[in-house]
Amino acid sequence: MFDSKIYTDRRNRLKEQVKTGIILFLGNEESPMNYQDNPYHFRQDSSFLYFFGLDSPGLAAVIDIDENKDIIFGDDVDVEDIIWMGSQPLMKDRALRVGVEETVPIDRLEEILKLAADQGRKIHYLPPYRPGTSLKIEKLLGIHPSKAKENASKELTKAVVAQRSVKIKEEVEQIEEALNVTYEMYMVAMSMVKPGLYERDLVGQMEGIAIASGCYPSFPIILTINGQILHNHFHGNVLKVGRLIVNDAGAESPMHYASDITRTFPVSGRFTQKQKEIYEIVLDAQETAIQAVEPNIKYKDIHLKAAKAIATGLKELGLMQGDVDEAVKSGAHALFFPHGLGHMMGLDVHDMEDIGENLVGYDKKLKRSEQFGLAYLRLAKELQPGFVLTAEPGIYFIPALIDKWLAEKKLTQFINYEKVNEYRDFGGVRIEDDVLVTEEGYRVLGKPIPKTIEKIEEITASS
Ligand code: GLY
Ligand code: MN
Ligand code: MN
Repeated sequence: MFDSKIYTDRRNRLKEQVKTGIILFLGNEESPMNYQDNPYHFRQDSSFLYFFGLDSPGLAAVIDIDENKDIIFGDDVDVEDIIWMGSQPLMKDRALRVGVEETVPIDRLEEILKLAADQGRKIHYLPPYRPGTSLKIEKLLGIHPSKAKENASKELTKAVVAQRSVKIKEEVEQIEEALNVTYEMYMVAMSMVKPGLYERDLVGQMEGIAIASGCYPSFPIILTINGQILHNHFHGNVLKVGRLIVNDAGAESPMHYASDITRTFPVSGRFTQKQKEIYEIVLDAQETAIQAVEPNIKYKDIHLKAAKAIATGLKELGLMQGDVDEAVKSGAHALFFPHGLGHMMGLDVHDMEDIGENLVGYDKKLKRSEQFGLAYLRLAKELQPGFVLTAEPGIYFIPALIDKWLAEKKLTQFINYEKVNEYRDFGGVRIEDDVLVTEEGYRVLGKPIPKTIEKIEEITASS
């Protein structure tokens, strides 16, 4: 947990931004897997963690802006709980660690909110993403679950996005702690790769390292010989010579700050010439993108620089043709690079996507494109010092997409479909790192995880 002053300052800033009314934060509950007492790994709500730091179920919090009061709602354990859970610190002591002096039993939340509503006071809450939270909102505020998102407070949501987007040094340290564990995860995965193992052999080792380090994966690990399936969570394939492994994984620090890395490496330990050529284009696109990071530049423009690097490289290989700028403008590169360059990262691996992807990644000046590919760009707006973002270009050969475009004779002036056909079974390449925007430019976070062909082969060819 951070120093209590950090939490107090965050709440005070929120009061200044939202100005009036009551702010309600609902913590997450245990989520049953197959019956009530067999839950998934507990994950606290990220905004609750950000403003109130307490990491257990059964909690809510209220910031009364007009009375300048912060209250945590939660119960002390009784002897029956102690039998199953052991003793727990008292709520009042836990609350003091995050600078909150007032604690109230959770069953009084409803009456306190009702009183405020009867007095005509505005109750702000964030858009819920779990059905259970929508049901709580219905019970507490009388808002039907189907309307819970649209009735969420725009002022609060904007204020939370503004604050959580800019990371303080303690948060960056947490992200780097997660990245150091991620480094170990990757070094082990790359050094054990060999034909005949299953994808899940590597996944098991990576998850094991995360957990043994006091962390947890920040999202379900993607590790696949079918990298053309962008978010493939199936781990049952045997590793075969000739395939590339796309491995997209991260850890969550003990305080739940995320990392998000992708490396692509060959099953056989050595890249083929064809794989090298595609890999080098993706690496060039990623490095071009990272080097362009600085305050005030739009991430959309950096995405387009990466797209241009990809189109240029693919033209040199004969897969694309025609004027590169025109090709990128028309979205032709998206046949190979159909996703966005990256997203914000922090307490969530896609930071704050629960409260509104467009609010996080776009602003009044910049609307989301409707063009295939660019439409998936999660972060497009101008960068500010303190943002942490991912840079993760890729090239994929997705047979269903190639067939669809070819059948439509789509953008034939920019795509050499005959040549593309030679790559149908290639799979994919993605390379991802986490980058802090600084006053001067950027800093790639964490201990560098090998990504040049030479450095990767040094590890993979030794197994
Ligand atoms: N880990 C999912 C992503 O890179 O966005
Ligand atoms: Mn990723
Ligand atoms: Mn990512």
